[in-house]
Amino acid sequence: DAPQVQLLIEADKPGVVINKNIYGQFAEHLGTGIYEGLWVGPKSKTPNTRGWRNDVVGALKKLQVPLVRWPGGCFADEYHWRDGIGPRAKRPVKVNTNWGGVEESNAVGTHEFFDLIDLLGAEAYVNGNLGSGSVQEMSEWLEYMSSDSKSTLANLRRQNGREQPFKVPYFAVGNEAWGCGGNMTPEHYADLYKNAVSFLKTPEKSKPKFIASGGNDHDTKWTDVLSKSITWNIDAISFHYYTIPTGKWEGKGAATGFGEQEWISTLANTLKLDQMIANNKAVLDRNDPKKKIGFYVDEWGTWYDVEPGSNPGFLFQQNTLRDAVVAALNFNIFHAHADRVQMTNIAQMVNVLQAMILTDGDKMLLTPTYHAYEMYVPFQGATQLPLSIGNNPAYTLGATSVPGLSASAARAKDGKVYLSLVNSNPNQALELNLVVNGDSFSAANGRVLTAATMDARNSFNSPEAIKPQQFKAKAVDGKLTLRVPAKAVVVLALER
Ligand code: AHR
Repeated sequence: DAPQVQLLIEADKPGVVINKNIYGQFAEHLGTGIYEGLWVGPKSKTPNTRGWRNDVVGALKKLQVPLVRWPGGCFADEYHWRDGIGPRAKRPVKVNTNWGGVEESNAVGTHEFFDLIDLLGAEAYVNGNLGSGSVQEMSEWLEYMSSDSKSTLANLRRQNGREQPFKVPYFAVGNEAWGCGGNMTPEHYADLYKNAVSFLKTPEKSKPKFIASGGNDHDTKWTDVLSKSITWNIDAISFHYYTIPTGKWEGKGAATGFGEQEWISTLANTLKLDQMIANNKAVLDRNDPKKKIGFYVDEWGTWYDVEPGSNPGFLFQQNTLRDAVVAALNFNIFHAHADRVQMTNIAQMVNVLQAMILTDGDKMLLTPTYHAYEMYVPFQGATQLPLSIGNNPAYTLGATSVPGLSASAARAKDGKVYLSLVNSNPNQALELNLVVNGDSFSAANGRVLTAATMDARNSFNSPEAIKPQQFKAKAVDGKLTLRVPAKAVVVLALER
């Protein structure tokens, strides 16, 4: 009874490399995303390494997090780096005006952030303050972090415990300049960007990739204006898109307890990112045909109504099988656009929006989104393989329709061909008949993430209610057939 779908992988026609940074993370000073979720301080009873939670860091390491964007988001345009260096007891306490009006102790500052980066084995993506800071302040931060000279600022870094320069491979000039970052026009921002990067000087060997703050949602104007008018010191343009079940900021929809209508509208809304990226790429291909400018989706993910009873400024939400399906659909989109999309950062790593991990005191749980990231690890740095789907059945409910199957294939660094499959339909399994040009396979081994209900989730009482299970298939008479259950994410390695 399951629809028969044809899947063709062209293993003999490799495409571009899927940059590992597509699997990047984002950690903002927001709610319990950093304080509590990651940082408990060195004196805490919760086991920690120099203040960073051992349980959370240990779990994140399994995701092979390639990079972390910090300190915001909107917070970045009100962050003054000098508040976060030197003895912690003496740091000024500020008000986090963007997120709940709570006190910001500045206990996590530059040195603590780079310690986290080292613990994770990741790279740093630092977001500078263009909105409320000066160009001088931004350029001095870069000097403080990256100078190997004996300048007063570099020596101040040494005095604060760090002899060698920190590595800053990615640096953004402001965030959401169209909104919380200053409510600017793209023309005005482009001028401010050019002014700022003229003074962001580092030794050539430690020059970061500079990222301009771009547009969001259906907008392509920011990409157009920035890529036309900034011709120097621009390595990427950032872009933000959030998936909201109802598509409305007022009444976004709940993270759990939703019906099938909100399941399909969430998937349909997330799939819109494919066309948004394509539209922005078309603009870039016109203005930057040599493809020097990357397109970084440095904020994306689901955004629901906050959990009842939680601080509305903390953006704390539950995470279910639906979020894992959303994540996997986005990964497949990013793989397909890997020529321009060289970085993405899901919002956000812990306890905020579509998180990998939720914490409660010293307990933690891994979300279905975490499992999707972990299953997709082989795609980091893999090489795209063209894939086409024949007879892809539409999954339709009322006036909304999405393709039943989303798939992506790549040859990973271990030499194996990996295949990811997402069945969006919560009611019907799919049967896939696999043909691979240029290679032949007799089996597929991997894992599947699914559950009995659309909003299956892990809880602190039942932290393993949903987790990946083994998936195996063997060729019969030379034919490899894969049965993908309803509402499922599958990642497989093909075996000869
Ligand atoms: O991720 C939460 C917020 O969403 C970020 O701070 C901001 O950039 C965006 O509007």
